[in-house]
Amino acid sequence: MEDRDPLKRFVELRDVDGRANGMNFVDLFSGAGGFSQGLRQAGFTPVASVELIEIASATHCRNFPECKHFSGDIKNFNPSEWLEGKSVHLVAGGPPCQGFSVAGKRDPNDPRNVLFRQYVRIVAELRPWYFVMENVPGILTMKNGAVRYAIVEAFEEIGYKTSVAVLESADYRVPQIRPRAIFVANRFGLPNPFPKPQLRPDEYVPIESAISDLPEYTPIPEINHEWTKHSKNFMDRISKVPAGGSLYETYFDAFKRQYPGLPSMTVKENHGGTHIHPHLNRVISAREMARLQTFPDSFIFEGPMKKAMWQIGNAIPPRLAECIGLALVPYMNAIADAGEIQGDIDIPNHGEAISGVQPFLCADGTSL
Ligand SMILES: C[S@@+](CC[C@H](N)C(=O)[O-])C[C@H]1O[C@@H](n2cnc3c(N)ncnc32)[C@H](O)[C@@H]1O
Repeated sequence: MEDRDPLKRFVELRDVDGRANGMNFVDLFSGAGGFSQGLRQAGFTPVASVELIEIASATHCRNFPECKHFSGDIKNFNPSEWLEGKSVHLVAGGPPCQGFSVAGKRDPNDPRNVLFRQYVRIVAELRPWYFVMENVPGILTMKNGAVRYAIVEAFEEIGYKTSVAVLESADYRVPQIRPRAIFVANRFGLPNPFPKPQLRPDEYVPIESAISDLPEYTPIPEINHEWTKHSKNFMDRISKVPAGGSLYETYFDAFKRQYPGLPSMTVKENHGGTHIHPHLNRVISAREMARLQTFPDSFIFEGPMKKAMWQIGNAIPPRLAECIGLALVPYMNAIADAGEIQGDIDIPNHGEAISGVQPFLCADGTSL
């Protein structure tokens, strides 16, 4: 199905000329701000964000003071009132996957799909040029593909043609294996760009290169370098866990010793049972998790350590989000240029190509 999608493109990032300039975005279900951070690195400006959990909102506000953050349930978010006439070129965000259901899809108040429907509602109202939605890859096979189909159909109904790809974060220099389903869509019938992988698996960034300079057993709370306290006995038990093994047979997802020389396994919060350091007899710290997610050290997480880990584990790696943003740049610039030529870019054309943009030479050399 993916390969037959005529709109899907993979963009060589080396060929992208510059970053986004003068393009605004809104981050829905922003969490701490992994998506916001990556898109800001790609040159986009965060103008609004929405998040339910207060501590994640506090982190977002701290790190994006320029962004007007709505802390509350998305169903109470009124985009036009909140944005006060600011243009929005891109909507980004990842609704929690329990927000997707094919049941009762016509009923936006059905609690099973209310979160996804809220994303659709806001895209329909803001009418950005493009939107990007991130989720776990399992979303694509949920209910034998019916959920994926329902997502594509819901956006088609509001005039957006969607493409989807599973991107492996490690392909983009993230020192972590973290595949993610990425939906990209636009309302002009233009290509939906994704970044071309930058590394082969044998070139992946190893875990050590991201964390080895942090103090081994001395916490630095100011930069979230803190981990669950271990007793001597617990450290003795950890010392016997081999690379790839777990402390618990029945709780295999937590307390896993990381392989030296390889990217980390996917990081999760796991109630303090995060991965075991590849070389030390302790779990990794919140800052080490943040490093594995490619957050800069200047990005500080609010709240106690476990809440910081929850925010970090939920995020899209900023470096992946940055690459996704950079792939959009040539296409969004073309729309901006077409707008200048036509002076009328905001026509509600529901999927028809806008004449000012065609013929459009894509970054991979093909044209529409
Ligand atoms: C997968 S996380 C998003 C992480 C984010 N994209 C990042 O990169 O940091 C999903 C977020 O949706 C938030 N959320 C869940 N229900 C919500 C609601 N009803 N309104 C607003 N946000 C909600 C959760 O608190 C969580 O932070």
